[in-house]
Amino acid sequence: MRIVIRNGTVVNTTGASKADVLVDGERIAALAAPESGLADGWAADADRVIDAEGKYVLPGGIDGHTHMEMPFGGTSSSDTFATGTAAAAWGGTTTIIDFAVQAKGTSLLSTLDKWHSKADGQCAIDYGFHMIVSDVNDGTLKEMETCIDSGVNTFKMFMAYPGVFYATDGEILRAMQKARETGSMVMMHAENGIAIDQLVAQALAQGRTDPVQHGLTRPPELEGEATSRAITLAKVTGAPLYIVHLSSAQALDAVTAARDTGQNVFAETCPQYLFLSIDDMAKPDFEGAKYVASPPLRPREHQAELWRGLRTNDLSLVSTDHCPFCFVEQKELGRGDFSKIPNGMPGVEHRIDLLHQGVVRGEISLQRWVEISSTAPARMFGLYPRKGAVQPGSDADIVVYDPAARQTLSAATHHMNVDYSAYEGMELVGKVDTVLSRGRVVVDADGFHGNAGHGQFLERELSQYLI
Ligand code: URP
Ligand code: ZN
Ligand code: ZN
Ligand code: ZN
Repeated sequence: MRIVIRNGTVVNTTGASKADVLVDGERIAALAAPESGLADGWAADADRVIDAEGKYVLPGGIDGHTHMEMPFGGTSSSDTFATGTAAAAWGGTTTIIDFAVQAKGTSLLSTLDKWHSKADGQCAIDYGFHMIVSDVNDGTLKEMETCIDSGVNTFKMFMAYPGVFYATDGEILRAMQKARETGSMVMMHAENGIAIDQLVAQALAQGRTDPVQHGLTRPPELEGEATSRAITLAKVTGAPLYIVHLSSAQALDAVTAARDTGQNVFAETCPQYLFLSIDDMAKPDFEGAKYVASPPLRPREHQAELWRGLRTNDLSLVSTDHCPFCFVEQKELGRGDFSKIPNGMPGVEHRIDLLHQGVVRGEISLQRWVEISSTAPARMFGLYPRKGAVQPGSDADIVVYDPAARQTLSAATHHMNVDYSAYEGMELVGKVDTVLSRGRVVVDADGFHGNAGHGQFLERELSQYLI
């Protein structure tokens, strides 16, 4: 297939300019200024010509943090790799990196096999894996090396969830030493789970059982403390550190201070922390359960700080932490006991659109929008320049984006397999128009043309942000 995208404004992190794009097979073959006339020749023998007049031509989004069909609290997140990657494509995301979850007592390699068998042949877009390490011992530390050799070189650990995923400081230290030795990276869920569990037990004993208690028992100070502790452990070991789903000013302050000293500390935030707040978790009739995720949504004041972090690069990028659970069947498990509400929110479909509101409101530049949603994740997770740029030689993962279109988010129209939208009724400026995944049109004006199995597993290189 040869596809020509004409008359659009190509946006990379380096700038935005009018350019025509030639796609040949799975790759971008060439870019040309419209006045060069080159595209006339390309169009003459193209299979398809897409008119992008008035639209942006962007590198496909990379969502570095998703949980498709993830087991949690006796249930499983409601998007499969098939439904979740289709929804991602609808929203202009052409790569996801999902988390394989080691169950305690099992090996990393059997975990990886299990996740491959869930995802392989199912995905509409390309995908990679991170590994959640729940058990640190001599065997699993050794297995990290094999994971790295098979393109899985980022290892998530938890300072939260005692008895489930929780790792002690000693275990974290050992994994970080291994990361330092191998050039890989530890990703940290930084909340002080030991202290949180006490607050949760006290709340339940006092009969405080509503969803909002999830937020009140996980105060931002305990995210700030855990973030600082993780940074200290990283400093002692010389390992790089990536903080996942950073939600609060306290945690951002810790990251900012570390980065100011030159330490290799990176962090992502998520759209829910930029656009939603603890007030959503306080909605009556158990509706607050829709917004229960960890770390929790914060008071609205934190949002300005997070936007600041995105501007100053103290927050490197935005991922969704997409982990949907249906309201009716699944969030219900925690009615009467907030601690049993499955943790996680849907979002893979709307990251690019929501971040575009940051451009509209003047919080971030057009180029920074592309950087935090595509180029930075590509570099951070070892996919650049195959992914993350509209340039010759890169995969033809391309989004034609209409910045003037309007849309209203709703569960009635979204494509994620979940019965509610966290953004129900929110009116947005901008909308995805056409999406290419490795040279194939997967979404356009008349719908979804992707198919399960088009997406390939990406063996990732080591992070390109380590210096
Ligand atoms: O509540 C959340 N974030 N669920 C997904 C798992 C995780 O900790 O990222
Ligand atoms: Zn987490
Ligand atoms: Zn997550
Ligand atoms: Zn079509």
